Amino acid sequence: MTDYPPISDQLDGDDLPSARAEGRRKMDWAAQHMPILERVREEFAAERPFEGERIAMAMHVEAKTAMLVETLAEGGAEVAITGCNPLSTHDDVSAALDVHENITSYAKRGVDDEEYYEAIHAVIGHEPTVTVDDGMDLVAMIHEEYPELIDGIVGGAEETTTGVHRLRAMDDDGALEYPVFAVNDTPMKRLFDNVHGTGESSLASIAMTTNLSWAGKNVVVAGFGYCGKGVARKASGQNANVIVTEVEPRRALEAHMEGYDVMPMAEAAEIGDVFLTTTGNRDVIVREHLEKMQDGVLLANAGHFDIEIDLEALADLAVDAYEARDGVTAYELEDGRRLNVIAEGRLVNLAAPVSLGHPVEVMDQSFGVQAVCVRELLENGDRYGPGVHDVPDDLDREIAEIKLEAEGVELDSLTGAQRDYMNSWDHGT
Ligand code: NAI
Repeated sequence: MTDYPPISDQLDGDDLPSARAEGRRKMDWAAQHMPILERVREEFAAERPFEGERIAMAMHVEAKTAMLVETLAEGGAEVAITGCNPLSTHDDVSAALDVHENITSYAKRGVDDEEYYEAIHAVIGHEPTVTVDDGMDLVAMIHEEYPELIDGIVGGAEETTTGVHRLRAMDDDGALEYPVFAVNDTPMKRLFDNVHGTGESSLASIAMTTNLSWAGKNVVVAGFGYCGKGVARKASGQNANVIVTEVEPRRALEAHMEGYDVMPMAEAAEIGDVFLTTTGNRDVIVREHLEKMQDGVLLANAGHFDIEIDLEALADLAVDAYEARDGVTAYELEDGRRLNVIAEGRLVNLAAPVSLGHPVEVMDQSFGVQAVCVRELLENGDRYGPGVHDVPDDLDREIAEIKLEAEGVELDSLTGAQRDYMNSWDHGT
C-alpha cells in the first residue's frame, strides 16, 4: 500500500482555504442544475443505504463529479477518489471534496505517470466494497495487484465506452471476477452524454482554446459513433463542412446519408482544417497523415486515451515544438508548416486549460444512473455474478422520469389495451 497524500496535504497550506472556497463555489453552481442528483441525494441522506460501505472512484474530478461523490457520501459511504486522467482534475474542487468527513480526494491536476498510479493505489488502499470507474483503471489494478480484495467487492460501475470495451474484453477472457454495470451503455447516458455532451463541450473547448471560428472550416471527425455523431452534428450546426472517417461500413453509410463527406483519413488529411478523433481506438492519425496536412491545422482528440493521434511521430517529424497558446502545442515541420495539437492529444473537452467537461445537465443524467447503480449493487448485489452487466432498464427509466418531472415535461402512458396489444403475438391485421 502507499502513503500517497490526499490533495489537502499536497496543496500549499496558505492556498488551501481559497482553493476549497472556489471549489465549493463551482460545486454550488453545478448543484443548482442537477435536479436528478438532488432528488437521489435527498433519498440517500434520509435512508443512509451505504452505511459501512467503502466506495473507490477514479473519475474526472471536477464540479459535476463532485456532486456524485457527495451524493454517495451522504448515503453513508466512505468515499475515496482520484482522477482518471492527469489533466482533467480541478484542484480546487478536489480540495473542497476532501473537506467532507466521509471523503478523501487524492486527485491533482498535472501529475506524472508515477503519481497518477500512486493515487490509484492510495484509493484502493481504502479496501473498497464498490468501485466506480471512468476508463477501468481501478478494476484493472485491483485484478492485477490486489486480488485479495476481490472477495470483499460487491461490484462496480463503469462510466465510459472505452472502459466498457476493456471490461468486455476482460470478461470474454474469463478474467473479470466481480460484477460491473455498463453505465455507459444506458440510453440515459449514451444518447445524451456521448452525443450532446461530447459534441458541445469538445467544440466549445477547441473554440475557447484557439479563439478560432468553425464557420467555413473543413472539420474531420474520425469515428461516427455516439461521440462522433454529436461532434459532427454540432460542427455542422456551426457552419463547418464536416468530413467523417470510419472503419465500420454501416456507420460510414449512416454518415454519408446524414449528408457528410466520408473518405479515408489519407484523403481527409490533405484537406482538413480541424481534426477531432472520437474512435476509442489507437493510431487513427499517424505519420503518413501528418506528413500531408496543411499549415495551421488543429489536431484534437475526444476519445478516452491519448493514443488516437501519434504524437511521437509528430515530434519526430518536427524541427521545433513550442506552446503557441495556453493548451496549444505547435509542431513546426522542416518546410515551415505548423501542426497545432490541443491539450496534448488528451480528451479535449476535459484536458485543455479552459475545459469544463460536459454541460452540467448532461452529467446530472449520467451520474444519476451511476448513483442508482451503486444503490442496486449494495441492495441486490447477490443477483449479479462476475462479469459485465447491462443496467436494469427500470433504473434508467427512474432517472428519465425524475428528469422529465424536473423539466416540467409530461408524457402519455400506455392504456391497458395498448399494453396488451404490444405484448401479444396473435393480433394481426
Ligand atoms: P462508439 O463505439 O459508439 O464509436 C466509435 C466509432 O469509431 C465506431 O463507429 C468505430 O467504428 C469507429 N472507429 C474505430 N476505429 C476507427 C478508426 N481507426 N478510424 C475511424 N473510425 C474508427 O464509441 P463512443 O461512445 O462514440 O466513444 C468513443 C470514445 O470516446 C471512447 O474512447 C469513449 O470512452 C470516449 N468518450 C469520451 C467522452 C468525452 O467526454 N470526451 C464522453 C464519452 C465517451
